[in-house]
Order: sequence, then C-alpha cells, then structure tokens
Amino acid sequence: MSIGKIAVLGSGTMGSGIAQVAALSGYEVLLIDVDQKFIDRALANIGKALQKSVEKGKLTTEDKEQILGRMKGSISYEDCKDVDLVIEAILENMDLKKQVYQKLDENCPSHAILASNTSSLSITEMAAATKRADKVVGMHFFNPAAVMKLVEIIPGLDTSDETVSAIEEVAKKMNKVPVYAKESPGFIVNRILVPMINEAVIALGEGIGTVEEIDTAMKLGAGMPMGPLALADMVGIDIVLAVAEVFHKEFADSKYRPALLLRQMVRAGHLGVKTGRGFYKYQK
Ligand code: CAA
Repeated sequence: MSIGKIAVLGSGTMGSGIAQVAALSGYEVLLIDVDQKFIDRALANIGKALQKSVEKGKLTTEDKEQILGRMKGSISYEDCKDVDLVIEAILENMDLKKQVYQKLDENCPSHAILASNTSSLSITEMAAATKRADKVVGMHFFNPAAVMKLVEIIPGLDTSDETVSAIEEVAKKMNKVPVYAKESPGFIVNRILVPMINEAVIALGEGIGTVEEIDTAMKLGAGMPMGPLALADMVGIDIVLAVAEVFHKEFADSKYRPALLLRQMVRAGHLGVKTGRGFYKYQK
C-alpha cells in the first residue's frame, strides 16, 4: 500500500521530532494533540530547527517553506478521515493508549495503519482495543528523532506482513535504518539501554562517582556519545522510570528494580532537560 498522509499523535519531544522527519521526507503531516497551544509550540520549534538547517546550508529557505507547508495541526480525531498512517507518540500509559486506539479505529479510514512509538508497552494489547489488529504495529524512533538513524519495527501477535512491509518502506523513505524486534518489554534498545542508565543512577546513589565522573567515565571509557545521566536527562527521567517499571513488573525479576533516586527525582518534578533540572541544570 502507498502511504501519502501521516497523522502524528502527540506533539511532545518525540511526536514533534517524528512529524519533522515525516514532513522532511515528503509526507503530508497532521500533528494532533489535545490543546492547540501544544501544537503551536511544536510547530514553532520545528520551524526553528529547520531554520538552523537553512543557516547550515543543508536546506534552502524554499525547502523550509515547503516542509512547513506540508504540516497542519488539529485537535480533532475527525481530521484523521483521510490519513494512511498514524504514528502515535502519546504518554506511556496503557489505559490511555487503549482509549486512543479505539478512537483512532473509529475515525481513520479502514486501510490506515496505526503505529505506536511506545518505548516498552505491548503492541498486541493496543491492537486488541481496535477492530484492525492486523494493521497495528510498533514503530519506535529514538531521541533526537531528527538525528538518530534507527527505527525498531515491532509486529504484534496479529500484525500482517503487509503492514510490516509498509512500515519498513516508510522508515526507509524517512532515511532511517529499520531493525525488527520481537514484542517483548523494551524491544532491543531499551531492554539494554535502560538497565544501564538505571545502574548509573544506582552507582550515583552509592557515591561511586559524581554525576560528572560517571558521565565522563562512560564517554571516555565506553565510547558513549553522551554519559548515561545526561542521556537520562535528555530522554526524560519520568520516561526512564516508566520503562524501568514496566521491566520490573513484566519480568517480575528484581534485577530490573528501578533506582530509588530515579523515583525521588520524578516525585520532585526534576525530569531532565524538559523541566530545566535533572542530573544537570538547564536554562528553560
Ligand atoms: N534535535 C535535532 N537535532 C539535533 C539535536 C536535537 N535535539 N541534538 C543535536 N542535533 C543535531 C545537531 O544540530 C547536529 O547537526 P549537524 O550535524 O547538521 O550540525 C548533529 O545533531 C550533531 O549534534 P552536536 O554536534 O550538537 O552534538 P553531538 O555530536 O554530541 O550529537 C547527539 C548529539 C546526536 C544527541 C549525540 O550526543 C548522541 O547520539 N547521543 C545519544 C543519543 C541516544 O542515545 N539516543 C537514544 C535515547 S533512547 C530513546 O530515545 C528510546 C526511548 O524510547 C527512551
């Protein structure tokens, strides 16, 4: 099947990054959120990111205008009536996701694929909230979505081969490298990355090193482009905790127990770059 118009649901860090990549790749994009002010903020940020590319000589002003011209915002699921694909990037809450998938199922045309950018939740469970389980699939991007080359593709129990091939084609058109992962909490990257970040937070809590020492050690000793604590700040400490909690619950194994300090930081509202304070401080 041919995909021309994509709705991106959720205009947070991941949703707006995915919307930017999709419009840059030539797709018509509908960015949906619950409040127009979130959409306006996301479109303004995308405009700034594209302007930087113009200044670096990677895009012309005309390219930028065309890309922005392919993007529209909406606060209504009813506007999904002519989309071919929805990429959902809302909060990592299964009850909320199920309600949203039901609404998408009612409002999207019957051929439309519903793809989730979930970091760790079950695609099969979201699919079961719809009458089109064969057209529900995981399509997991990485932060920052404009830069990171990987897209994990995760078929649910009833996802059809046709759906999977269509998503692979979209990922490639977005200039990403698709890798298939079996449906299991965290798929491939987060299954390995999140326990590592959690261990860095435990090491910090035990006083093995300071924030700077731990990050410098992992950058210079393990070749990471940024340290695990800076990465937690960029991803969002609430997201890291949510994924760690899914692992702890689903595997019922104490090796996945989230660090107490992660919980404390979330309780304090220190969620990383997005709140101006995490393991480091940021100017908002
Ligand atoms: N948005 C868009 N573009 C960005 C960006 C952002 N947030 N951050 C950096 N870039 C761009 C820069 O503009 C620059 O572009 P040019 O090459 O065109 O100049 C390029 O990326 C490189 O940036 P910098 O030179 O500023 O910095 P860097 O070389 O240190 O790279 C980085 C920054 C790409 C973020 C790099 O540090 C990195 O790869 N970090 C690890 C990121 C990572 O692990 N992400 C996965 C997180 S896990 C996840 O997302 C899954 C989940 O479900 C939780």
